[in-house]
Amino acid sequence: MSSETAEVRQILDMNAFRPGDSAEAAVDRRLANLGAASVLFYRRPIEMVEAKGAWMTAKGGTRYLDFYNNVPSVGHCHPKVVAAVSDQIARLNIHTRYVVEVVDDYLEKLKATLPAQLSNVAMTCSGSEANDLAIRIARAATGGTGVIVTETAYHGNTALVTEVSPSALKRGSLPDWVIAVPPPSAAHHGDDIADGFRASVEAALAEFAARGIRPAALLVDSIFSSDGIFADPAGFLAPAVEAIRAAGGSFIADEVQPGFARTGASFWGFGRHGLTPDMVTMGKPMGNGIPMAAVAAKPADLAAFCADTGYFNTFGGNPVAAAAGRAVLEAIEEDGLQENAARIGALLLDRLQDIAAKDGRVSGVRGAGLFIGIDLAGDSGRPDPDLTVRVIDAMRERRVLIGAAGRYGNTLKVRPPLCLTEDEAAIFAAAFEASLNA
Ligand SMILES: Cc1ncc(COP(=O)(O)O)c(C=O)c1O
Repeated sequence: MSSETAEVRQILDMNAFRPGDSAEAAVDRRLANLGAASVLFYRRPIEMVEAKGAWMTAKGGTRYLDFYNNVPSVGHCHPKVVAAVSDQIARLNIHTRYVVEVVDDYLEKLKATLPAQLSNVAMTCSGSEANDLAIRIARAATGGTGVIVTETAYHGNTALVTEVSPSALKRGSLPDWVIAVPPPSAAHHGDDIADGFRASVEAALAEFAARGIRPAALLVDSIFSSDGIFADPAGFLAPAVEAIRAAGGSFIADEVQPGFARTGASFWGFGRHGLTPDMVTMGKPMGNGIPMAAVAAKPADLAAFCADTGYFNTFGGNPVAAAAGRAVLEAIEEDGLQENAARIGALLLDRLQDIAAKDGRVSGVRGAGLFIGIDLAGDSGRPDPDLTVRVIDAMRERRVLIGAAGRYGNTLKVRPPLCLTEDEAAIFAAAFEASLNA
């Protein structure tokens, strides 16, 4: 696909309400309270009141099928999570300076999903804090400072992680200790994505050497969500990870989006690449809506960081968050959600590929489990973010919620709750097909 003249889109601007769009009183109230930091979906924002499973209900009673879901991943208001949180908050909720059984119960259950050497878990409240801490640990463990990311990456909102999030920058350029490489896509690397991505990382390492900067980490979202969703071929990440390690840096897998069973074949996104990261960061679906996140690290690396700085987070890993996290892990197991993500995701991918075969504007469909990207292009084959926004709006009219990603904002991010049924997948596919021609 030729993308030369397409305009690069900033991640928070895609499909967003813009001041000046006509607003109802509730929206005005929200803007008056949050000001310029308010980010709302849709030119006509929706006021939500409740949700269950894969469905959200707006004020007035309209029900929407949620395909934007990346937080209440085991299903909105999952009864097990609701019960666990209610029970724990009625019993004890406190900062993290006492021993509380549920916290260690949770961490042992979480660690059972992770590579054995990542046996220490530092708990935080957001994915941003987790990535911030992971970069600082990587620096202490390697002695380097440089970080390699992908060119439309988003890793969070602290001062440090904003600098490694090219997609969040509205103006200015990356600092000299950050190099952004093209994502592992066929558009950039042709048939050999593994080798092309490795070569990009090696070029960045050579550039760091020329700048006199030692590398600390390769930091990537293991399904490259904001770059446009790149999952295949499985294993493509391994040569790039070898390259960063050979240069003395570490590999941080940002699992904030792909983690917790979404990609179907494995519990973590890095699983499909046959890798053991040096650190794993996680968040969003971890508490199904209760704010919680973490960094899993090797004890020696965490100790190297704590020797100089130490880390304490008042709310990170509090008992209510731990109870929520434990209920999420149990729900994934008991409801068979990883298997469901694999099965329904494969059906949906097939159906979307059928639509792509009939309509040239659907220029790419790819993904893993219930994490699928759909590229939309204009007649000339160029990325078409305007068509993408029209489809997003038309789907909203058909009561399906979805968002966009990618450098040019022309990739629909298909990311429903993991409890999605076959019927719900069919509703989505029909709404998508109809919305293309709306
Ligand atoms: C891949 C990735 N990493 C980190 C973050 C930051 O997480 P949080 O918003 O919880 O700080 C996000 C948020 O969108 C993300 O998508």
